[in-house]
Amino acid sequence: MFNQCLDLNDREFQLFQEIIYRETGIHMSDKKRKLIVARLSKRLRALNLSTFTEYYDYLNESPHSDGEIVNLANRVTTNKTDFFRERHHFDFLLRELYPRIIAESRTNGVRRLRIWSAGCSSGEEPYTLAMVTLEAFKGERGWDIKILATDLDTEILQKAVIGMYPTQATSPVPREFLHKYFVRKGEHYEAGIGLRSLIAFRKLNLMDQTFPMKNPFDIIFCRNVIIYFDTKTKEELLNKFHRHLKTKGHIFIGHSESLMHMKDRFRYLKHTIYQKV
Ligand SMILES: C[S@@+](CC[C@H](N)C(=O)[O-])C[C@H]1O[C@@H](n2cnc3c(N)ncnc32)[C@H](O)[C@@H]1O
Repeated sequence: MFNQCLDLNDREFQLFQEIIYRETGIHMSDKKRKLIVARLSKRLRALNLSTFTEYYDYLNESPHSDGEIVNLANRVTTNKTDFFRERHHFDFLLRELYPRIIAESRTNGVRRLRIWSAGCSSGEEPYTLAMVTLEAFKGERGWDIKILATDLDTEILQKAVIGMYPTQATSPVPREFLHKYFVRKGEHYEAGIGLRSLIAFRKLNLMDQTFPMKNPFDIIFCRNVIIYFDTKTKEELLNKFHRHLKTKGHIFIGHSESLMHMKDRFRYLKHTIYQKV
């Protein structure tokens, strides 16, 4: 009885589609109706509300609105991720891009690298980036390397900051890296100081008109995020990424995403890897 889902009528579904789209950019198609009910019913009960209309009013009423929008966003995001997800991206970094950046630094003297993991979820992506980057740059001196890892979902971001993963979740991490970069804590592995020192975790909504980062990035990872956005939202976000990338900077997207319609701005290099024109 306690876990029973509440009813969401057509009008309420439309209101929630609108508010979720406005606040997160996530387009909830009609197929997602059950998902909204399942994910939000618990929150309604926690607030002692009995209809979605009451919850909608609560969301729009000051003084709750800001805090509750965060709760709503935390519940509607999909956070699936993995260490070394889409491994070919990390192979490309290790075998092609990083050796090239290191070789170029010998002539241009640039020893600064900025990477952004946009939509970092529980941290597996930025920690993988950190491992691969440390491997590629070991033996190199004087480099200033930073990874910015951002997400809208504050609860998942907290997990990323804690950086503690059950042993099973670390199975894609090569054993050698696991021993080198993580600390075993019983049935868990905790990201070690070497990885953490490269990464800054921040809350950031990709729907914001502008982003606060002043310096452009060499590399942006935004994988399996834009898949939830409609065409207009994707286009606007990619234009913002374009502005935040260095010329010839690289952008990596998810396996089912494409930038082929933006050839004037992003040159296709290989599967889901593009370079700013
Ligand atoms: C499916 S996960 C992908 C994680 C990782 N990039 C990967 O490929 O494994 C998508 C992440 O995007 C985040 N996200 C969705 N909408 C967002 C928005 N408007 N701003 C920032 N992050 C968002 C979600 O909270 C979620 O953690």
